[in-house]
Amino acid sequence: MAANKLKFDFTIKPEDRKIRLKQRPQLIWFTGLSASGKSSLANALEVKLFQAGFHTYILDGDNLRNGINKGLGFSAGDRRENLRRAAEIANLFLQAGIIVIGAFVSPFTKDREMIKEIVGEENFIELYVCTPIEVCEQRDQKGLYKKARAGEIKDFTGIGSPYETPVKPFCKVDSSFESVDKIINDIFPLLAKRLDGSQNHF
Ligand code: ADX
Repeated sequence: MAANKLKFDFTIKPEDRKIRLKQRPQLIWFTGLSASGKSSLANALEVKLFQAGFHTYILDGDNLRNGINKGLGFSAGDRRENLRRAAEIANLFLQAGIIVIGAFVSPFTKDREMIKEIVGEENFIELYVCTPIEVCEQRDQKGLYKKARAGEIKDFTGIGSPYETPVKPFCKVDSSFESVDKIINDIFPLLAKRLDGSQNHF
């Protein structure tokens, strides 16, 4: 059994790919309530990184749940499996040299810790989207808060299921009083510095 698990030692290493792509692959992880602005922020950040010449890819909760994570629900166990798969996929992209942007509610501290462990603490940047629930609920683009209030969705984050606030995020952003573009413009220099690999000073 163990013999079947031996890994082949491929010649081209993640280190070689980093150098080729001239960047430091990191997982930039947006966590926050549904409708807090995670996907819009992820999108605006990717556009800016892409325009600056970085190689990026977005993993988004709603998208993965339509494909590889189809069939998973919102119990604590299913959320954990959803996030474990997302982190493992992110890890593959990181090894390929790509900067990954994740946008997932990821409400539980222990699950975010698991993600950090999978990709390595030094490769994980946690951005907490702290838009207040009242604003998210007012936006309610998908009508899910309304359904949750009506008791049609039992374990909806922020209503029937808790959101555990990140303790020490890289930064906190609130899309209720600042535009998505302003937020991204403000955090971009800090992120770009961390992702820059042009001098190969990893
Ligand atoms: S996570 O908790 O497992 O990280 P994920 O980010 O993949 O969640 O998916 C969240 C999206 O699924 C929300 O944006 C929302 O559109 C939808 N959704 C449906 N049911 C729930 C629920 N019970 N709790 C939170 N989001 C839900």
